[in-house]
Amino acid sequence: MPTESAIEPASDLPHDVTLRRPTEHDHAAVVSVVVDWWGLPGTSHLPLLLPRLFFQHFADTSFIAEDADGLAGFLVGFRSASQPGDAYVHFVGVRPDLRQAGLARALYETFFAESKTAGCHRVNAITGPGNRGSQAFHAAMGFAASGDTEIEGVLAWRDYDGPGEHRVAFTREL
Ligand SMILES: CC(C)(COP(=O)(O)OP(=O)(O)OC[C@H]1O[C@@H](n2cnc3c(N)ncnc32)[C@H](O)[C@@H]1OP(=O)(O)O)[C@@H](O)C(=O)NCCC(=O)NCCS
Repeated sequence: MPTESAIEPASDLPHDVTLRRPTEHDHAAVVSVVVDWWGLPGTSHLPLLLPRLFFQHFADTSFIAEDADGLAGFLVGFRSASQPGDAYVHFVGVRPDLRQAGLARALYETFFAESKTAGCHRVNAITGPGNRGSQAFHAAMGFAASGDTEIEGVLAWRDYDGPGEHRVAFTREL
């Protein structure tokens, strides 16, 4: 049953899932699942990429998805302070048992709609070259991928986030 603060999604949510804004009290629950939900080697540092500040200062452009089993997914995003036409998705995750049911699409479509209403015309995101699931998802969502070197079989920007921290960059017009 949606609560008063439930957010209307821009596309269908899986049965029983609702969206709301995060609060800083959601931080602990989200960082406790990311390593497990990502399920990729070398990702034990992921919680450090989601400090509490995102839940304090970017809550109005982010979402928590919930169902009867608790945290179903989340999107942490924001509108660029330096490039007002750009929005950016920092993190998106969906609980493994709810994958391929349209939840991440609903999180993205809702973020797109709100970003467009706020005056943005483009949305950006990045991922690691080894995260093929993220690359397939962003391709399905209409993002173009870019990079300058082939790394692990995909085009990625070498040392994008520091030595050895290569990233595939995604962009999509709104
Ligand atoms: C990537 C992720 C968020 C996708 O969530 P999801 O709820 O399963 O995605 P959806 O069901 O909304 O899928 C939307 C589209 O992407 C496609 N897609 C999603 N994951 C895919 C995958 N692993 N392989 C191929 N296509 C995929 C779907 O088929 C669907 O395409 P369609 O709408 O054309 O039919 C989820 O797999 C996840 O949490 N992965 C771990 C965290 C992560 O890597 N996050 C992204 C980097 S920040």
